[in-house]
Amino acid sequence: MPRTKIAGIGFHVPERVVTNEELTKWMDTSDEWIVERTGIHERRYVKKYEETPATLAAQAAKIAIERAGISKDDIDFIIFATLSPEFYFPGGGVLLQRELGITNTACGALDIRNQCSGFIYGLSVADQFIRSGMYKNILLVGSEVQSIGLDFSTEGRNITAIFGDGAGAVVLQPTEKENQGILATKLHSDGTYAEKLALISPGSHGGYHNKYNPDGDIDYGFDHDLDLGGLFITQKMVDDGMLYPYMDGQFVFKMAVQKFPEVIHEALNEVGLQTSDINMFIPHQANLRISQFVQRLLRLQDDQVWNNIQKYGNTTAASIPIALCEAWEAGKVKEGDLVALAAFGSGFTWGSALIRW
Ligand SMILES: CC(C)(COP(=O)(O)OP(=O)(O)OC[C@H]1O[C@@H](n2cnc3c(N)ncnc32)[C@H](O)[C@@H]1OP(=O)(O)O)[C@@H](O)C(=O)NCCC(=O)NCCS
Repeated sequence: MPRTKIAGIGFHVPERVVTNEELTKWMDTSDEWIVERTGIHERRYVKKYEETPATLAAQAAKIAIERAGISKDDIDFIIFATLSPEFYFPGGGVLLQRELGITNTACGALDIRNQCSGFIYGLSVADQFIRSGMYKNILLVGSEVQSIGLDFSTEGRNITAIFGDGAGAVVLQPTEKENQGILATKLHSDGTYAEKLALISPGSHGGYHNKYNPDGDIDYGFDHDLDLGGLFITQKMVDDGMLYPYMDGQFVFKMAVQKFPEVIHEALNEVGLQTSDINMFIPHQANLRISQFVQRLLRLQDDQVWNNIQKYGNTTAASIPIALCEAWEAGKVKEGDLVALAAFGSGFTWGSALIRW
């Protein structure tokens, strides 16, 4: 059975740089607070009306496709991971297909809604399709435009300070080479904490999940006695800032530092390798403090971990392919290297992948 290799990789971030200092124009925060707690100095934001998750994805994809030495028309399946889709539906996969000018309707497009671990989930799905022989050239993209949906008031500062826009893409192909390709992927989820990092409304929940909330009744911003209409989006939701993402930062932090090492060890154990075999570790760029904590636990040197959250913030589904691409472009990922990827995020969902480059 063939394995799956990354045949081409690319990334694209918007030109507009937004520093921590610039955020202080809108909210009560400081460069010092953000750098100390997250390691982030600046992030990128799209040009409104011109750039979207699909356009960023297309830019990254074009680079990955060229580096794979194929044409867009060779792509037989698209996997698009994002938490910031331009439409509620349809998903970003078909918008990317259109943006790339792929007119082959035999090319399927799948949307992945696994937030920060979306790229790892997508990689695992692609790996199964390639190994089974179903597809030969899968385009997997993580792309985010967070800046359009963030709360720029002081209320939203814990999330707005960390999120950024960007996209990363890979082309996946079969390889028959002895010691090359994806060695293992591990996926996990625990819906118990679904609301700890979430954008709940607008949605079709109708308040149902409140029964899992131990702290009593949540005000979702609608009238419970309504039969039809007035549940999906209301003026109260708009007025009270309920249409923005929510995060219990400390809770997420504690879970992340536990799950990252666990899921990396799980993948290593499966293929009989150890942390000392890892040449490059690419963590999802959630928070520099999380990555540094995990690095210490895995006993990795600074040059064995790629961090770029300082420049781009947390670009959720895009963060791993952007970081992997940067590391590869810098010559830090070479043929034969063991690359470990790991992510944790909203859901909660988390996962890891081991790739022999
Ligand atoms: C978001 C995060 C940086 C916040 O840091 P923290 O030390 O946990 O801070 P807290 O949320 O407990 O807030 C502490 C104080 O800082 C304030 N604060 C939060 N964001 C702030 C900001 N950007 N600027 C200034 N103050 C801020 C809070 O309002 C709070 O003030 P209070 O004590 O007066 O209420 C941190 O929790 C984190 O990184 N968590 C993981 C996030 C993550 O990885 N998310 C993506 C999932 S992969």
